[in-house]
Amino acid sequence: MDSLPKTFVVTGATSGIGLALARQLVAQGSNVIGIGRSAERCWHAQQVLSKINPHVHLTYLLADLSLLVQVRQLAQQIKQQLTSWYVAYLDGLVNNAAILPFHQTTTVEGFDTQWAVNYLSGFLLTNLLLPSMHAAPAARIISVSSASHYHTYLHWHDLQLFHSYNPLRAYKHTKLAQVLFIHELNRRLHDHPNIKAFAADPGLVNTDIGLKGNSLFMDWIWKLRRRGGVSPGEAARGIAFLLLDPDLQNSNQIYWRDSRPQSPNPRALNLRDGERLWDISSRMMKLIS
Ligand SMILES: NC(=O)c1ccc[n+]([C@@H]2O[C@H](COP(=O)([O-])OP(=O)(O)OC[C@H]3O[C@@H](n4cnc5c(N)ncnc54)[C@H](OP(=O)(O)O)[C@@H]3O)[C@@H](O)[C@H]2O)c1
Repeated sequence: MDSLPKTFVVTGATSGIGLALARQLVAQGSNVIGIGRSAERCWHAQQVLSKINPHVHLTYLLADLSLLVQVRQLAQQIKQQLTSWYVAYLDGLVNNAAILPFHQTTTVEGFDTQWAVNYLSGFLLTNLLLPSMHAAPAARIISVSSASHYHTYLHWHDLQLFHSYNPLRAYKHTKLAQVLFIHELNRRLHDHPNIKAFAADPGLVNTDIGLKGNSLFMDWIWKLRRRGGVSPGEAARGIAFLLLDPDLQNSNQIYWRDSRPQSPNPRALNLRDGERLWDISSRMMKLIS
């Protein structure tokens, strides 16, 4: 058994499920690189978590994941951080950051902001960090998806919904794209059986996600709806399980809720669609021309 502490990257680690997950990982002895978009919230999270376990490496890096130029810079910074800690490899990446904006906005790079944060940033960061996981004994890539992914299909002619935006439709769309990506990623990792990818469904969770969408109407709905949700800590336990359980290395189940496998939307298992989304995403990210 590997006795070295494991090292994980968690995006969106300044609030909600991501912050709770970073806290649990630090508490059980893992090194954590948390990612956030606000310098103040990163500083605050680092202050709080560093008191939990002084024996692990912990840092927060700032990146606006809606901007792919910043995702590329972030990947470089993560690699530099590993080197400065004398850590030889990364044991896992959790693509957790997400938004639910009421109105559609477009980034300066020309992407729908929700598509960029919820799906594309994870696609790009995963591709850029995969080489750092090649030497890990049992690496894990997790996309935090949602049961919302069941209730949609991919609009191939308008993947970023520039012609038919609606906040929930866009959210479901990004959450289905994440699961399809995870399925295709596992297929492409056949030469690297030490790396497994999973989609995590945290269930309904009492966080502030629905209060950040710039809409008083959505704020009102979410304040009512989230009352039925579990705590971020409870949701994070299911993700920590996917990162740490040694038995999962041989699992062919890709979609998990509360530490149990579930059948995803069958559309997420379509091989042709998986290849197609990978190809389109690679072109969007200029990983291929
Ligand atoms: N809450 C639920 O019921 C629920 C259900 C199913 C799935 N999920 C999924 O769970 C994950 C976490 O959501 P949550 O409920 O914990 O929401 P949250 O509390 O709002 O956390 C989202 C995190 O993403 C960060 N973030 C947002 N935009 C970013 C950007 N452009 N660049 C970098 N970081 C950014 C946020 O930063 P700030 O702290 O600065 O806002 C925050 O740390 C998401 O993938 C969500 O889709 C949630």
